[in-house]
Amino acid sequence: MCLECKRYIKEGDSVSQFDSICEVQSDKASVTITSRYDGIIRKLHYNLDEIAYVGKPLVDIEIDASKGVASEEDVVETPPMSHEEHTHQEIKGHKTLATPAVRRLAMENNIKLSEVVGTGKDNRILKEDILNYLAKQTGAILPPSPKGEIIPPLPKSETVPAAPKDKARKIPLPVSRPLVFSGKDKTEPITGFHKAMVKTMSAALKIPHFGYCDEIDLTQLVQLREDLKPLAQIRGVKLSFMPFFIKAASLGLLQYPILNASLDESCQNVTYKASHNIGVAMDTEQGLIVPNVKNVQVCSVFEIASELNRLQALGSAGQLGTNDLTGGTFTLSNIGTIGGTYTKPVILPPEVAIGALGKIQILPRFNGKGEVFKAQIMNVSWSADHRIIDGATMARFSNLWKSYLENPASMLIDLK
Ligand code: COA
Repeated sequence: MCLECKRYIKEGDSVSQFDSICEVQSDKASVTITSRYDGIIRKLHYNLDEIAYVGKPLVDIEIDASKGVASEEDVVETPPMSHEEHTHQEIKGHKTLATPAVRRLAMENNIKLSEVVGTGKDNRILKEDILNYLAKQTGAILPPSPKGEIIPPLPKSETVPAAPKDKARKIPLPVSRPLVFSGKDKTEPITGFHKAMVKTMSAALKIPHFGYCDEIDLTQLVQLREDLKPLAQIRGVKLSFMPFFIKAASLGLLQYPILNASLDESCQNVTYKASHNIGVAMDTEQGLIVPNVKNVQVCSVFEIASELNRLQALGSAGQLGTNDLTGGTFTLSNIGTIGGTYTKPVILPPEVAIGALGKIQILPRFNGKGEVFKAQIMNVSWSADHRIIDGATMARFSNLWKSYLENPASMLIDLK
């Protein structure tokens, strides 16, 4: 960050605390920087209208140590408010005195200046007043001042031995520095499934995505699954909603094979895949993985459930093999097991379509007679490769998929 600078002082000038040093203009606001010290301007680090860089010295002030120094504070900040707003703050009839940098520090830490006791001249609130206030609130221990850089405030009553003139110190004022320290940044390499996600998703976003969403009334399916669950359980299989969603998708793909296709890299040829290898996005401890249920077009709902159980068990154990993780032709992502309604799923190349399912919610809806009933509603969000799939095809497929799920008995007609 850098700031344009206008100055009020020149080298050799004497300044007192809170005298204006310069005016800085950032892209957000104009702020007057004031001196924190009584002393003599020894060096200006910038000429008029030059760009001053945050974190670099702005001006060197030679101070007479015998007079003590009030406080160390950041000199240049980029306040979100205008210059006028920073000159003073009126709280319950009292003006609080503080520099823009101090006001910003208070604002960034949600501290009301009216609650802070100012220890500066005319009860002016200093940076350390804010830091002390913050430390009391959080129990944090303030970092010690680096040697020779920060001059701690001196109690008013304390007398300071006069320093010989030649020992007067030059203090470069930094433009800005971190205000509150909390922990350390951590950098770690991207590995494993995350690395694969970087590669796949970067490639995916080269595909022009078309989005289409709808809501599905699963009231009948919720009941059907309740009825069938014990049957599946007897056979040692957990029956969730996914096998129905997957089978309905496969029945839809039989009618709209373009959604189970892939486009070659040069966009010259489309390959219609014979197998419906339907990928299921899985949230695992190792990250997102998408194993696929192979040949769904020839599987029963129970067989899909059984295969899904196997993939889930291997997925949680981090033991899925290459065969399970490759060869997918279409994907469903049931993010609704975690939450949410609509989403914008990203196609997994070389596939051309993906559906994301929201959470099933009980919501009031009208039946055919205009009566309100408790409906089990789920939202679906489709994304398709708009280079080869048009909106109408996606919508027709979605309508078909929806009809199978809203009236699960209708699946029987098309099951082989
Ligand atoms: N809304 C509300 N509840 C749902 C639901 C939905 N959309 N889908 C499933 N459920 C319920 C299930 O019925 C089950 O309840 P039950 O134990 O009472 O029967 C429960 O949530 C857990 O289901 P789960 O065991 O996870 O099976 P599943 O077949 O529904 O889902 C996965 C399997 C792999 C899809 C799921 O575990 C998962 O990982 N989802 C996250 C996918 C993801 O991260 N997508 C984002 C990709 S960027």
